[in-house]
Amino acid sequence: MRAVIVYESMFGSTKKVAEAIAEGLADCAEVSVVPVTSADAHILDGADLVVVGGPTHTHGMSRPSTRKMAGKLARKRKPGSEVELVPGAVSGPGVREWLASPGRLEVAGAAFDTRPQGLPAFTGRASKSIRRLLAHHGARIAAPPASFLVEGLTGALVEGELGRARAWGERLSGVTTSGASPGLLTPFAVKSATVREHRGAVSGLGDCSRRS
Ligand SMILES: Cc1cc2nc3c(=O)[nH]c(=O)nc-3n(C[C@H](O)[C@H](O)[C@H](O)COP(=O)(O)O)c2cc1C
Repeated sequence: MRAVIVYESMFGSTKKVAEAIAEGLADCAEVSVVPVTSADAHILDGADLVVVGGPTHTHGMSRPSTRKMAGKLARKRKPGSEVELVPGAVSGPGVREWLASPGRLEVAGAAFDTRPQGLPAFTGRASKSIRRLLAHHGARIAAPPASFLVEGLTGALVEGELGRARAWGERLSGVTTSGASPGLLTPFAVKSATVREHRGAVSGLGDCSRRS
């Protein structure tokens, strides 16, 4: 199986989650982790699964205006703060722009976001909009949208969230590309996969027997 994870991240938390999901997938799949700013037209060639994630901004996916706000927040950071802007993130594109015209998605798809702790009714969840757009463009939805939690507006990931992201990736690796449907994870046995390096990527091998 070939999986592509496309992520957007302002302060680095969604990037870390994307990498942890890749680790979870990597036992059963060849995985590419691609910042949305580098996602070209051919990024999904030969892919069976696309996983798309971004930060929740103003209750949904980022926009040029919210990315600018994120840039301002980062510039105002206190001395010693760990908040760093991911290079290129403010100018975009974000996942909203990428999902505006990704072409027909003949793949299984799954969505995730990061957001601070709190009731989704108050915080919003970018992953819901991402999931909707993935389905709109033809992706077979492999899992319900997932949120991974950060501390405050620009904060670090809550303890344990990277482990949860890894486990989510492992569950996704059990998704069949032919049988994926909303909310349903179907066992998927992969006989082999190759190891390959990608831009900032984790790549995997193919012993999935223990999961089939
Ligand atoms: C401009 C801006 C708007 C935001 N709006 C929301 C929001 O409406 N709901 C929410 O839960 N979090 C919101 N956040 C917090 C982000 O979800 C948080 O910064 C993000 O999860 C961090 O991920 P990143 O490090 O990958 O950028 C906002 C952050 C910024 C910078």
